[in-house]
Amino acid sequence: MSDIEKYRKYFTKEYLMGPNSFRLLDELIQRRPPDARFHRTLDLGCGFALTSLFLANETDADTVYAYDLWISATENYRRIRDNRLEDKIIPIHGDAMDMPFAHEYFDAIISVDAYHYFGCREGVFAEKILPFVKKGGYVMIAVPGLKEQPRGELKQLFETWAEGDDAQLFKTAAWWEALLKNECGEKCDVAVAEAECFDIAWQEWFASGHKYSVRDREFLQKGLDRILNFVLICVRKN
Ligand SMILES: C[S@@+](CC[C@H](N)C(=O)[O-])C[C@H]1O[C@@H](n2cnc3c(N)ncnc32)[C@H](O)[C@@H]1O
Repeated sequence: MSDIEKYRKYFTKEYLMGPNSFRLLDELIQRRPPDARFHRTLDLGCGFALTSLFLANETDADTVYAYDLWISATENYRRIRDNRLEDKIIPIHGDAMDMPFAHEYFDAIISVDAYHYFGCREGVFAEKILPFVKKGGYVMIAVPGLKEQPRGELKQLFETWAEGDDAQLFKTAAWWEALLKNECGEKCDVAVAEAECFDIAWQEWFASGHKYSVRDREFLQKGLDRILNFVLICVRKN
């Protein structure tokens, strides 16, 4: 087990961007197949690069590329230096849809609470993500999702919470499995599961006091917790 307590100082409204990503990443890593390697890892949609710190410290990664669109590389570099990890983590600002890396460059691509923003469309995985992983390498993704399609009052509650277009980003495990299997065919092995860390990841987000967490707590208590989950995706490139 990784020592999550080491990162507790980041469980605050200044750093968390949603349900605690350390929990999601930890579970994603704990469930990795035995032949998964992290030597050269891309943290795709790394946000404040907290997940990159975790990957650098808690896996066999030699180098972690901390890649994000909304947060600047300069801001993340400050945090990386504060943690004395500047020789191991490389901050880069960029769009997942236009990555500057060589094909077959990474042993692993990891994406926590980010992939749904750009990956819900057919073609994205096969064309924009998979080429950058070595043969025998892995793409591991954690995204917020749905246990089942909400109906009736729950549907209304869900759509009010997710406000319009965002509702389209929440998919079931079966939806993700079908999308990725359809895109990859024989090229990949695809495994999809629901995360077990749902309660603690949300509780720690609520405890952060972030203004969005206050609203989220209200909606989850009204019944949204019955249909939300986190979907964990693990794809091996054959
Ligand atoms: C909710 S934050 C999660 C950040 C981080 N992985 C974590 O778990 O703390 C979502 C991140 O996805 C990134 N993102 C969204 N669309 C992206 C894109 N097209 N390319 C790269 N990053 C993207 C945003 O910049 C944002 O930092």
